[in-house]
Amino acid sequence: MTSVAIANIGELVGWADDRPVRHGAGLVLSDGVVAWVGDTADLPAADEVVDAEGRAVIPGFVDSHTHLVFAGDRAQEFTARMAGERYAAGGIRTTVAATRAAGEEELTRLATGRLAELRSQGTTTVEIKSGYGLDTDTEELLLRVASRLTPETTFLGAHVVPEGWTADAYVDLVTGEMLERCAPHARWIDVFCETGAFDADAARTVLTAGIAAGLQPRIHANQLGHGPGVQLACELGAAAADHCTYLSDADVAALADSGVVAGLLPGVEFSTRHPYPDGRRLLAAGVRIAIATDCNPGTSYTSSMPFCIALAVREMGLTPTEALHAATAGGAASLRRTDVGHLGIGARADLVILDAPSHVHLAYRPGVPLVHRVITTPHSDKL
Ligand code: NIG
Ligand code: FE
Repeated sequence: MTSVAIANIGELVGWADDRPVRHGAGLVLSDGVVAWVGDTADLPAADEVVDAEGRAVIPGFVDSHTHLVFAGDRAQEFTARMAGERYAAGGIRTTVAATRAAGEEELTRLATGRLAELRSQGTTTVEIKSGYGLDTDTEELLLRVASRLTPETTFLGAHVVPEGWTADAYVDLVTGEMLERCAPHARWIDVFCETGAFDADAARTVLTAGIAAGLQPRIHANQLGHGPGVQLACELGAAAADHCTYLSDADVAALADSGVVAGLLPGVEFSTRHPYPDGRRLLAAGVRIAIATDCNPGTSYTSSMPFCIALAVREMGLTPTEALHAATAGGAASLRRTDVGHLGIGARADLVILDAPSHVHLAYRPGVPLVHRVITTPHSDKL
């Protein structure tokens, strides 16, 4: 068992109850977890000492929503949108064609490269969805690739109805043979509940079947317009309702009452020119929020949590501290994890030393690479 002490932390954002942010701090990591937190002057001896030289230290980001396993890109679609075209869910089929044509080796190489991108920008826990296969063999393959990279894998066979299928027949496949083959590789079940994808009945059928197979529900909801997705998430006790771009007052109240985490994905609004949801409105109502990248080739091809934090501050009305909380502790809540997203005693030793004196710089200096060093536990995700 080796221990590492981090000395001279200018600002430690650990979210510990007594002092969520502390200055002049020190930290000891031992056996892969946080073993001691206090003033740097009282730092106990350790096998190795890292001098933070006044930099800020934050928990590693918890990215609770990504689609990292895919091939090809959709840069032309992005260009068209920036010129005024609207986003439509059907673009998913373009990526499905490219993904089906790529083999396991290529998909693994691509996903591993994207994971390295996330990691270099401070993410130490990541959720990865399937959803660009849309047939049993490819969906299973995507989940096998994903499960080598993270334990937080999500079966999203119900991403869109593939060409040549009716919605009913495809939902039968997703909840039958495909679920049977995919469930062993997944922790979560997800569905894109939206006009152009799956309606409320189909989404309920998919999530209920997933729950019966031992998976836990989460949902893509209320992304392109008002709809039933958020209410369905609350009804089923889902861990998270992600997107939440268009919310009625009743949706906000249901999120607050149910404790379902609202996943905000500002990269999507950036890349689709949809209006940003109001983060302040959610916090004021007592809704728990997470920020995630939604890294995917259609609506948000960014792997950068700092970029998403900056957008959430500028466009969603969050303070820099609230945005960081949503990108760390909020992401952990979205994944029902208590061991990540904070730096209290016993938390996993997953942290980022920033090249900045304060976490505020994540939003204050957008686009600037501020990750000085990422420390993760040996037993953390294979990041
Ligand atoms: O989270 N909303 C559905 N799925 C993705 C987009 C998929 C795509 O356009 O490729 C999302 O935004
Ligand atoms: Fe998504």
